[in-house]
Amino acid sequence: MKKDFISMDQVSVDFDRQQVLKGVNLTLEQGISYALIGKSGSGKTTILNLVAGFLKPDEGTVSIHGVKVQRPRRETAFLFQELGLLPWQTVAEAVAMPLKLRGQKKGIDMLVAELLHKLGLEKHGNKYPQELSGGEQQRVALARTLIGEPDLILMDEPTSALDATTKEELQGLIRWEQQKRQATLLFVTHDVEEAVILGQYILILKEDGRIVQLENPYYFTENAREQLGFYEECIKLRGMIKMEKDV
Ligand SMILES: Nc1ncnc2c1ncn2[C@@H]1O[C@H](COP(=O)(O)OP(=O)(O)OP(=O)(O)O)[C@@H](O)[C@H]1O
Ligand SMILES: [Mg+2]
Repeated sequence: MKKDFISMDQVSVDFDRQQVLKGVNLTLEQGISYALIGKSGSGKTTILNLVAGFLKPDEGTVSIHGVKVQRPRRETAFLFQELGLLPWQTVAEAVAMPLKLRGQKKGIDMLVAELLHKLGLEKHGNKYPQELSGGEQQRVALARTLIGEPDLILMDEPTSALDATTKEELQGLIRWEQQKRQATLLFVTHDVEEAVILGQYILILKEDGRIVQLENPYYFTENAREQLGFYEECIKLRGMIKMEKDV
């Protein structure tokens, strides 16, 4: 049996007397990708912040490998919607930053060059973010997320600002990198199709705080977007997000 990697046990969060999460239970296994979907304001980003260690629950516990999460950990990487690329940092500098912050001195240039090459950014190392397209900026942020060899990748709407073609390209890259590293991926998306492309499991956060977990039959299906069943799955999920009570 696989060991639980991350677990949330009876987690509740209140913001100024607004209860955002109530008694949430969730377990995530190592090497698996999970798409977290749900209505706007239901608490998806809050869940990412809890798992990242940016936020502490008011009740319940979040643990990784059985240890309570008290603060951000080095092996967890984040890609948030605001990419956080700094206008005065070149692409190569931005990607190198996580390694520099952790005090690594050797081999940085080579690791950065390797990753930029993999993500098709090799020509852009000396450019600044404002000299890049939206898709290129997303790829730079992805490279910066991946360079520290994380075992857990958290992403909040990673492709939301992109056109359809660039989005599909980036989704392919994310899936490839997650598989290769056998990292756990927990990502939030508004795009149900993205959830069905990238998530081995789909987690639906309901308004009563429950999470409904479904195995995704279209995960890793080649040319999924060319199959009618894929769209039927998306329609089913959209219906489940809308439903107040149960499935
Ligand atoms: N720091 C905060 N202080 C007060 N309220 C907050 C804070 N962060 C989030 N909230 C509230 O908690 C609720 C859940 O927010 P959260 O960002 O987790 O939702 P979400 O599911 O990610 O929504 P969206 O899909 O729109 O991004 C919202 O009603 C939000 O206004
Ligand atoms: Mg959010």
